[in-house]
Amino acid sequence: MERWRTIIEPFRIKSVEPIRLSTVEERERWLREAGYNLFNLHADDVLIDLLTDSGTGAMSAEQWAAIQRGDESYAGSRSWYRFLESVRDLFPFKHVIPTHQGRAAEKILFGVVGGPGKAVPSNTHFDTTRANVEFTGAEAADLVIEEGRHPSVIHPFKGNMDTDALDAFIQDRGVENVPLVMVTVTNNSGGGQPVSLENLRAVRAICDRYGVPLFLDACRFAENAWFIKQRETGYDDAAIPDIVREMASLADGMTMSAKKDAIANIGGWLAMNDDTWAEQARALEILTEGFPTYGGLAGRDLDAIAQGLREVVDEDYLRYRIRSTEYLGEALVGAGVPCVQPIGGHAVYIDAGELLPHLPPLSFPGQSLAVALYREGGIRACEIGSVMFGLHPDGSEAPAEMELVRLAIPRRVYTQSHIDYVIEVVRWVAERATELPGYRIVEQPAQLRHFTARFEPMA
Ligand SMILES: Cc1ncc(COP(=O)(O)O)c(C=O)c1O
Repeated sequence: MERWRTIIEPFRIKSVEPIRLSTVEERERWLREAGYNLFNLHADDVLIDLLTDSGTGAMSAEQWAAIQRGDESYAGSRSWYRFLESVRDLFPFKHVIPTHQGRAAEKILFGVVGGPGKAVPSNTHFDTTRANVEFTGAEAADLVIEEGRHPSVIHPFKGNMDTDALDAFIQDRGVENVPLVMVTVTNNSGGGQPVSLENLRAVRAICDRYGVPLFLDACRFAENAWFIKQRETGYDDAAIPDIVREMASLADGMTMSAKKDAIANIGGWLAMNDDTWAEQARALEILTEGFPTYGGLAGRDLDAIAQGLREVVDEDYLRYRIRSTEYLGEALVGAGVPCVQPIGGHAVYIDAGELLPHLPPLSFPGQSLAVALYREGGIRACEIGSVMFGLHPDGSEAPAEMELVRLAIPRRVYTQSHIDYVIEVVRWVAERATELPGYRIVEQPAQLRHFTARFEPMA
């Protein structure tokens, strides 16, 4: 037991950015102008921005110093070698291919292994991963354990893959059609829930049986490792970097967005052991990202990532990180707001389907709640439900499995008083949730519609 209950931010603030206060009337106008899509808002018009934890973290003094050390040589820069060393220290894959962000790594990977007739299972594909798989004509399948599909069911590793379903899936689609198995740690679309090492080992055993490679979508690897340390038998004394290396040792490759657990504002990479795939991936990388020692990034970005990777595995940081997310979640659950439980690593997910039972999924209860949080309190959250997942490649529309609103916490950005404010606003809105209107889409693109669709409230 710690002596003091309060988990303080393990940093002090050296540089501040003002937040502009606004009124409900102003926010109503901005919402109309944005077509009720929070992605269309001017960020200056947002008070507390919980849209995403991606690329929104605060860099440390050491990261800013690393930025100054950036070597902008086109090929073989010192920054590249520092980046490579830092990545390999945790993920000792043979080939590391830097990219400008996670989805670029996905685009390259599935450009190599995807295509019509192929099928890629995951615990839950993130939306960009799914889109990149489907863009090649392949099928993206979500095989998370049953507990992971029910917001209120408690399970220590709700991000785990259903291994029986995985086995059956590979047999059904044919092993020759499954180029790889993917496991997302932590499982963002499933509520930021961790995956256990035991489950990764079981997935690995199936992959070995069929000779199918296993790739990690490792965006939140450090948060996942912290949960393993807290919850998995035999790991309470293990060092976080060792847990990460054990996760990596079970995989044949990874995709990564450095905008999450490298605490950088941009960046990513694709890594793997297979020489043939790596050669093809590098050829694609040169087409779209750049030379393989910078891959769409400036040398200074590579240095910021190298330093961020050392900071993110620090236990004081991770304890604060996971505890502060839990603090928000516990307060909301305590106030009767239905949330995905247990509380995930990087975000609290409100179950909008349950909170707004008067709205059917295709009236977008999550969108309605997210709009209300912004209108009332200037809080920008993200719908993860039928807006994000309801539109299928053939143009058909079907409800998502869950109607969630994600309050994602940027790393090292907000203090406890900001979070206390969020709790107050969410409680106020939740008490009036049954008065909130549904929304209809009036304009949308064919893919990833949540970024640009425009909505209007139903009468
Ligand atoms: C699990 C997961 N995979 C992939 C991505 C894509 O990364 P990026 O936004 O850097 O393209 C994200 C981003 O949010 C994610 O959460």
